[in-house]
Parts: sequence; C-alpha cells; structure tokens
Amino acid sequence: MIILAVETSCDETSVAILKDGKDVRAHIVLSQIDIHQTYGGVVPEIASRNHVAHMTKVFDQALVQADIKPEAIDLVAVTKGPGLIGSLLVGINAATAFAFAHQKPLIGVNHLIGHIYAVSLEHEMTFPALALLVSGGHTELLYLKGHMDFHMLGTTLDDAVGEAYDKVARTLGLSYPGGPIVDKLAAQGKDTYDLPRSYLDRSAYNFSFSGLKSAVINTVHHARQRGEEIRINDMCASFQTSVLDVLIEKTRQAAQAYDVKQIIVSGGVAANRGLRQRIVKEIPDREILIPSMQYCTDNAAMIAAAAHYQFLHEGPHPDYVLGGQSIINFETI
Ligand code: KG4
Ligand code: ZN
Repeated sequence: MIILAVETSCDETSVAILKDGKDVRAHIVLSQIDIHQTYGGVVPEIASRNHVAHMTKVFDQALVQADIKPEAIDLVAVTKGPGLIGSLLVGINAATAFAFAHQKPLIGVNHLIGHIYAVSLEHEMTFPALALLVSGGHTELLYLKGHMDFHMLGTTLDDAVGEAYDKVARTLGLSYPGGPIVDKLAAQGKDTYDLPRSYLDRSAYNFSFSGLKSAVINTVHHARQRGEEIRINDMCASFQTSVLDVLIEKTRQAAQAYDVKQIIVSGGVAANRGLRQRIVKEIPDREILIPSMQYCTDNAAMIAAAAHYQFLHEGPHPDYVLGGQSIINFETI
C-alpha cells in the first residue's frame, strides 16, 4: 500500500510518501522556523499563509523524490488535528483536492497518534507499550494496549514541556524554538540553580511545568534587579535536569505499574539529547524506542505511518471517503 500523507498542523509544511508502512519513498519538510523566529514564536496567520504559498511545491517535490505518479498512490492521509486551525485547513484542503482529483481514498489522522507511530518507521512496536509524548503542545503518558488502542494515563495540567523550553529560552534571550538551544547549552553547564520538581504526588501521571517556568523567570528577574549575571549554561542545565527528573521518574513508575514491554518516547522534545541519553540509562529494564531526529519534530512520514496502521486496523472509517468529499470530523481539531 502506498500512502501519500500531508502534515500542516503548525509551522512545517510536509508531504511524505510511504510504501507498506516502513519504506519512506519521499519525505519533504519545509520549515518556517526562520520566519517565526523574528516573532519569538509561531504566528498562526503567517503559518497558514506560508502553507498556502508552499503546499503545491512540496506536493510536487514529494512525487518527484518518490519517482511516482499520483495514480500509483493507494491512500491519501492528512493530519486532522490537533493543531492551528488555519494551518490544518490548508493541509486538509490540499489533501482533499488531491484525493478528489485522482479519485483516491482519504483518511484523517490524529497528530499525536502520528507522533507515536513515528517509531514504527524504524522499529517494531510490541505491546503493551507506554508512550511518553512530549512536544510543543502536549505532554502525555499513554498506555498502548495494541495498535490504535490507546489510553491516556496523564497529561500536563498547564504548560506542555516544549512550551516551557520555548518560554525559558525566551527569558534567557535565546532564539526560537528554545528546545534545541537550551538542550545544547545545558550540556555545557551544571545543575547549580535550585529549581523545583513538580511530581504532583496526588495525580501520579500528570505533569506541571508552569511552576518550574516561573521559578526560572523569577530567578532571572531577581538577578537582573540586583545587577547580577545569570550563568546561562548553568540555568539551562538546571532547568533541563528538573524537567528530565520528572519526565523520567513518572515514565519509570508507569512502565512498572503497567508492566509494559516497550517505552516509546516521541514528539519534538524527544529530540532532546539529554532525554535520549538519560532515559535509556535510567530505565535499563525496558526496551526504549525513540525516533531518529528527523522523525521527532513534525513531519508527514509519521502521519503516513499512523495512517497505515489506522487503515489496517479500522478499515473504512467515517473519515474515509473515496474521492475525498467531506472527510474530516472538525470536532477533533
Ligand atoms: O512536535 P513538535 O515539532 O511540534 C508540536 O507538535 O508541538 O515539537 C516542537 C517542540 C518545540 O517546543 C521545541 O522547542 C521542542 O519541540 N524541541 C525540543 C528539542 N527540539 C525541539 N525540546 C527540547 N530539546 C530539544 N532538543
Ligand atoms: Zn507535533
């Protein structure tokens, strides 16, 4: 089965072509980071307009890279949410138009399920499994009983972990997105600032990062008021250590409680080198799957992978209509 997938939930315009769930024939990701960097974060209207400007080109590049004619595609998949509504609509309309023009079936894929299935591109998934999904918009622990049979164990009560990285970076005068730069500087610093860890004992698998974020902001402001220098590398190391202590401890506890065979770490923050190194070392008794860097942040290959399993598992679905008329359940966006 050859799947063409489209992902435009935030600021990446991406089209991928995947054969039989694993063979990535094309993978085009056009990032808008340079544009949004000026504003210190993603500006939704600008993101939507750039998706419109680049969508057709990205489609064409994917077909050329895969050396495939549209007639050879068996299924079109598109991220249906969650995400920025204007951005999603561009991808949904492009995918719908392509499916309609070429009379192909169309399927809507949940973005978070896409992040989880990113690992299936390079690894065999074995159930039961646990997913630690950490991105700019989400921080979740999920129990995966089987393909497409997922149960949420916990989520963030306030900021998503990637969002906390971005805000801390901004406070420290670092560029957007904050995750990669804070990760890099953390490796050059020491955990010397005394920052809190939110274990939220009474809601075992939930997370909270706003207290930690506020602690960083307050420490920086107080230091500036006193005319003291902030040791940026040490602050990045202290922040990252606090985040990772909590993420890893909760994941370890859930993995034990549910006796899972695998732990899947996915989403943009799964690109974090500190997290990748520590989680493998600190949870040695479980197999840990982490997508390679290119499949951690938003991309259409993961949407194609999820669509592959979604289609095998559910077959024709309410979202699944030949020719692409009216596919998307907007309630899920
Ligand atoms: O999954 P993603 O591309 O988009 C969403 O679905 O949110 O994740 C983007 C997030 C941003 O907040 C970014 O700062 C974070 O992932 N991120 C990282 C790293 N690389 C990206 N966070 C920590 N360390 C990194 N190396
Ligand atoms: Zn994402």
